Amino acid sequence: MSSLRQSPAWQGLQTLAAEQASTADRAQTSPAAAIPICAEIGGLHLDASGQQLSQPVFDALLQLVQERKVADWTHRMLQGEAINQSEQRPVLHAALRAQTHDRHCDSGAISEALAARQSMRRLIDQACSGALTGTPVRHVINIGIGGSDNGPRLACTALRTALLPDMDVRFAANLDPADLHSALQGIDPAATLFIAVSKSFRTEETLANARRARDWLQQQFPSEDSAMLVARHFIAVTGNSAVASSFGIPAERVLPLWDWVGGRFSLWSPAGLALAFAIGMDGFEQLLAGARAMDQHFQSAPIEKNLPLLLAMVDIWNVNFRHADSHAVIPYSHDLRSLPLWLQQLEMESNGKSIDRDGALVDYATSPIVWGSAGTDSQHSYHQLLHQGTALTPVDFILPLADGKGMAADRALIANALAQATALSHPDSPTRRGRQPWSMLVIQQLDAHNLGMLLALYEHKVFAEGVIWNLNSFDQPGVEAGKLLAQQIARGVQPGGVQPGAGKNAEAATDAALAALVKRALS
Ligand code: F6P
Repeated sequence: MSSLRQSPAWQGLQTLAAEQASTADRAQTSPAAAIPICAEIGGLHLDASGQQLSQPVFDALLQLVQERKVADWTHRMLQGEAINQSEQRPVLHAALRAQTHDRHCDSGAISEALAARQSMRRLIDQACSGALTGTPVRHVINIGIGGSDNGPRLACTALRTALLPDMDVRFAANLDPADLHSALQGIDPAATLFIAVSKSFRTEETLANARRARDWLQQQFPSEDSAMLVARHFIAVTGNSAVASSFGIPAERVLPLWDWVGGRFSLWSPAGLALAFAIGMDGFEQLLAGARAMDQHFQSAPIEKNLPLLLAMVDIWNVNFRHADSHAVIPYSHDLRSLPLWLQQLEMESNGKSIDRDGALVDYATSPIVWGSAGTDSQHSYHQLLHQGTALTPVDFILPLADGKGMAADRALIANALAQATALSHPDSPTRRGRQPWSMLVIQQLDAHNLGMLLALYEHKVFAEGVIWNLNSFDQPGVEAGKLLAQQIARGVQPGGVQPGAGKNAEAATDAALAALVKRALS
């Protein structure tokens, strides 16, 4: 049995779950025994009372956080220890938003991040003045995928009210050419800048879209040299400057993406350049300041008032002791509609693992499936299941009370969010067996600072869960294996038919039926 399951706190939680299960469905606390759980920092307020935890359960979860030494691991991470063991790398995304005097955090990384931000500012100024492309840049197209797309895309959507009027920022991620094709509609080529964002600069989707963008430039300016066009209209953000340079991007237009920043934690780095174009460098700094405030809260607030730890604790209870295998995130905000997508990568790529840090197969559940979309649209889709279905599905409601400019959210929208939460915890539901656990995150105003806090909150929650589950939350070996297989299959199948050897490669696709499908689809 794993050391986690043998730990006193875990055993205590198991006993409590069994006791509650004997009196109610799925270890549910009786409404009378449920305790209020609230905490806040600045403009972010968490109410997790809808989780209906009893005091003994809460105390045992608190003990679990202590026993699993989450605070020690946090310290090790911030100091730059190579806690991403499989890749032998430190994990320093918090350094990206730290200040020079933040002594808890690796000072070398902080200096590099500050220098990179100066380069970001310089490039934005040059682009806007016309010094970069010969014409003031009005269109920026971010070419990247996964962590090199999700964060800046989410933030550009969420900070709608802070977008600069003269800057049009778009995103292209998918391997399907249709994605870039849509992004290119109606733009002025002379005033266009492409940002190729790829930590590895080897990602198939990003390289394909970068080549397509280069071809598009060539079509727009047929008399000009292709290499000149790339040098004029491209910036790269990467940890692999050699490949960016062989693509033709001049060194002074290549911003760093260090190996100590995971893709899904990279919004705060130069990978957020498209966002910085969209809201300005000062807005970007506000986002970082919000994230830093959350970093400090995570390190210093007591466990019972610590937002990331509280969210992690309720997740552990729901996943491991109430057997919830999915988790819905429902922002009551059109501007936050992309949040579930960003969280899917953050949570599932980080903790969707069944091998622990020591290489052993885990004997407990890890990341649930994260899903969701904006309310109230969601109410007309899957809320029926949340209210009366058989699956236990914890919900995070995210509720901004005002937009980034302070304009109050629609009263009916707020009322609907509160009504849904109230209905989920209703003890007398005639058709549901038991109540659905929920947390509510209320955001005073959806500005850059508070968005930074919100995203860093989830980053730290995911980290704390990984520590408790004894996972390395910072690698993604399953994804890498899939990429390799796609390359093998693609190499074996060339236009015009299946090439010799394709069968062998197709068989790498695990079984004969699948191999046949590969041949049929690609020949
Ligand atoms: O999806 C796998 C992944 O490696 C992510 O972790 C990463 O964010 C994405 O691909 C893009 O990688 P890169 O920035 O190297 O292009």
